[in-house]
Amino acid sequence: MKFVTLHQMVKRARETLGADHWDYLIGGADTESALRRNRFGLDGWLFRPRILNDVSAVDATTELLGCRLRIPVVLAPIGSLQVFDAAGGRGAAEAARDFGVLQILSSACQPDFAAVAQAVPGPRIYQLYLTGDQAWMDDVIAQALEAGYTALCLTADTQTYSRRERDILKRFVPPSGSQAGVSDFGHQARMTWDTVAHVKETFAVPLVVKGVGVAADAARCVEAGVDLVYVSNHGGRQLDHTRACIDVLPEVVEAVDGRVPVLVDGGFLRGADVVKALCLGATAVGLGRFEGLAMAAGGAPALVRALEILEHEIRTTMALLGVARLDALGPALLERSVAMAPAGVLSAFPLLAEDY
Ligand SMILES: Cc1cc2nc3c(=O)[nH]c(=O)nc-3n(C[C@H](O)[C@H](O)[C@H](O)COP(=O)(O)O)c2cc1C
Repeated sequence: MKFVTLHQMVKRARETLGADHWDYLIGGADTESALRRNRFGLDGWLFRPRILNDVSAVDATTELLGCRLRIPVVLAPIGSLQVFDAAGGRGAAEAARDFGVLQILSSACQPDFAAVAQAVPGPRIYQLYLTGDQAWMDDVIAQALEAGYTALCLTADTQTYSRRERDILKRFVPPSGSQAGVSDFGHQARMTWDTVAHVKETFAVPLVVKGVGVAADAARCVEAGVDLVYVSNHGGRQLDHTRACIDVLPEVVEAVDGRVPVLVDGGFLRGADVVKALCLGATAVGLGRFEGLAMAAGGAPALVRALEILEHEIRTTMALLGVARLDALGPALLERSVAMAPAGVLSAFPLLAEDY
């Protein structure tokens, strides 16, 4: 089926996935308040459109870490991606290549980094969870660089695995083996700024730190030589009761002050969401559940189709805002207001409730 709207993609994913995998994808930690707040925050920013600008040739392309992006979007790292579609990380890699965005491959998904690089050569970021000591880490990073990965990502908001009650109640354990209170996250928990310094000293490759939640840590990343600051609350799947990532973005952008690009994720499901983050100074936006939902809806071809629709939404939003180029987006095009309706993962797709 060739989707013509994103809500069809979500609907198909829901029909395809059983309760275990649906809840693993959709759910968050504890009360799921951080998860809902991501959407609530996005809904709370309104556009202030400008008129009578020539928007006959909208350009939404950009560049990140030397890689051209057809739209300012990256595929966020997703562990156990293979439960949504058997092609797993390789399928997402194919979609990223075929559409023209960058993929961050999780070390907690299959096939592994070497198989994905061999099947789909090209620029790609490797996100590594530390499950061994420094010598182990150095060895894995060296192998990843040898395999052709062009940047590394350390996820810093996963010191331990959170309590995701949907999974706990059903005793669902994803293939990665991650489980609240059970998994060995000791090495992740011991990660410090020294780890960042060590990686920067040892490897000549761009480093991304994912999970930045306050300006002070963003500033410290830049001082430590981090090449890309990634604002994230892990899609509300780790620490609960955090701010919406879109609301963290302005203070991080101010602290970073243009020295390195800023990536943000958390609740981004529609083109207008992406444009809001760009207005607030993000270089690009990470897609987590969007990627998982699209893979569940039909693997790599469905993800390409979903990205095409997202591109159309982004370009349409830009044109109707009176902006033809990404560098013309800015905070003057936004205004803070109150969200109209209760927010949740699926509230971005109101037609779902009307059974379209
Ligand atoms: C099913 C699933 C698995 C995830 N696995 C990882 C992972 O292995 N590593 C990581 O850094 N983040 C992981 N994340 C977090 C995403 O990279 C991203 O930060 C988050 O999904 C963004 O929020 P969104 O889903 O609302 O777009 C995962 C998210 C989901 C939904």
